[in-house]
Amino acid sequence: MLDKLDSMPVVPLVQADDIDTALNVTRALVEGGLSVVEVVLRTEAALECLEAVAAGVPEATVGAGTVLSSEQAEASIEAGAAFIVSPGLYVPVVEAAQAADIPAIPGVATASEVQLGWNMGLRALKFFPASLAGGPLMLKALGSAYRDVRFMPTGGVTAANLSEYLALPNVIACGGSWLTPMSAIEAGYYERITQLASEAMAIANVVRGNV
Ligand code: 3PG
Repeated sequence: MLDKLDSMPVVPLVQADDIDTALNVTRALVEGGLSVVEVVLRTEAALECLEAVAAGVPEATVGAGTVLSSEQAEASIEAGAAFIVSPGLYVPVVEAAQAADIPAIPGVATASEVQLGWNMGLRALKFFPASLAGGPLMLKALGSAYRDVRFMPTGGVTAANLSEYLALPNVIACGGSWLTPMSAIEAGYYERITQLASEAMAIANVVRGNV
């Protein structure tokens, strides 16, 4: 899974009120080249969207995001989540993912949280909210102490600052909602999502030296 993130270093958020929208958004992202997606548990229908996307878009690796409790983690795993992302580090959520043998990527914003994650065996952590928690400079500082931890900055990442984050050796991938704007989803303008995904992938390929 972590190897996959390294080669697919942009993780879009999928937030949908219904299954059709979730499927359309995910297919649009995959068409644009982004095949690791995070379905966020922020709507009533999120778990059914997660299940539908995990089963209906086999080209995609589908994780659950905004997982706040162990109950939500277990329900997400049951729905087919391939990884679990949270905005913060809550031990029972990490343990639920570890018990199911899938990656937990909890959010951290301080050294103490990184160290707690490290002691739970985690070597990939979400850095959230990236732009407010210190941005690239904070990641550099954390990198000097936690040398084997890689981060997924999320929160304020956009096409404009993506390359700055991805250029850091301790950034495994970046996450964000800029790839799936609500305005495009509401208008059914899925081509826009494909366009944003290809643009992000092009930036990632340049930074990671794949072109
Ligand atoms: C998240 O939970 O990962 C954030 O809401 C994403 O932040 P963004 O909307 O600034 O990309």
